[in-house]
Amino acid sequence: MSRSNHHENPYGVGLAYRFNVHAEAVANRNEIDLLELSTEDYIVRERRTYSDPNEILLKDALSTFPCVAHGLSLSIGTVGELNENYLSSTNRFMEQHGLNVFSEHLAFHSVDGNDLTMFLAIPFEEIAVQWVKQNYYAVRRKLQRPFALENVTYSFPAPHSSLSEADFLRRICEETDCTLLLDVTNVFNNAHNHGYDPIEFFDKLPMDRVSQMHLAGGHQREDGRWEDSHSAPVMPEVWPLFDEAVKRSTNLRNVILERDSKLKPFSSVMDDIRKAREIFYTHRPATAPQNHLPDFVDEPVPEPDPLSSDFAGLRSFQRTLMGRITDPAFRKAFLENAPEAVKKFDLIDPEWFQKIVDCPGGMVHEFEEAWDYFQKEDEQVAEEYEKREWAAWAQQLGQGGW
Ligand SMILES: [Fe+2]
Ligand SMILES: [Fe+2]
Repeated sequence: MSRSNHHENPYGVGLAYRFNVHAEAVANRNEIDLLELSTEDYIVRERRTYSDPNEILLKDALSTFPCVAHGLSLSIGTVGELNENYLSSTNRFMEQHGLNVFSEHLAFHSVDGNDLTMFLAIPFEEIAVQWVKQNYYAVRRKLQRPFALENVTYSFPAPHSSLSEADFLRRICEETDCTLLLDVTNVFNNAHNHGYDPIEFFDKLPMDRVSQMHLAGGHQREDGRWEDSHSAPVMPEVWPLFDEAVKRSTNLRNVILERDSKLKPFSSVMDDIRKAREIFYTHRPATAPQNHLPDFVDEPVPEPDPLSSDFAGLRSFQRTLMGRITDPAFRKAFLENAPEAVKKFDLIDPEWFQKIVDCPGGMVHEFEEAWDYFQKEDEQVAEEYEKREWAAWAQQLGQGGW
């Protein structure tokens, strides 16, 4: 089997690959059908240095398992310029390793050069559908392939949304040729946290567009809300939803279990994988069937223009929300005199102004605290990275390497 065939369209149930359980994953290869690689672990220099600098484990993983790729930094919902570096590095990584299947998140988290690294809900509005459509096709052209969009856990929807979350996803499927990466745990979390029925959510979705699924275990906060922390076994309430989702998703190719921490004992990861396999193979054939996805066409959708007046309200809303989270001076100005403060971001549309004013203050504040914390942590990581690099150079020089 050639390498490109091996990764062509992986089928079955697998694991979100983490280098620190490489040996365990390989030892269980008979029960792990595929791996999902987090592309940023290899295209972000610092992350690669800390994990698998010479990509020895990666190469072994790629030759042992069929793999799919999953990105993290796209921020497809942001009305702004796309990150060309990110896209070209992702494309290069996929080409280099013969990967074919790619997915990203239907969210926004990066505005004016500040990346929150936590997902915010794209406002569920028709104008945002149109923005995501243009951005989707721009990315699709760069990556030279259609890709899947994943529903995320979000802490609050933009207030006064005219669409439901399910209708928003459905509209994006109608307007693009994306497939869906349905994260069933995220459906459970959002249904619980925002008070909707997850089965009715499935009813509204074009389930024949679901090509991939995620399962993960989160944790419940003191206030009862669920967080998508990938730190525990899949919650018991998620399994019946997963069963129902698999039953309905006739074009489903693969399911990935996500676990970022508490990966050991690995038997607890394998318990979840076995359970997922049992359900997957109850409803899906033992070997990959033909896909019946709609014919994919690269529509002549125009390049996205973030400065177009069509997207001015959405753009100002996003910039203002991020301003509240990341800029202490703006936070203060906004609390003192919101109509005056928002002029900084040209927020003049009264409906978008009302949305920003009605964002739940407590939750925005949590993002502010997390942002401040991550800023400090980032500085420490950068400092340590620098020290390591200098130490490595000094050692090479000492050995007469240069
Ligand atoms: Fe994800
Ligand atoms: Fe996920």
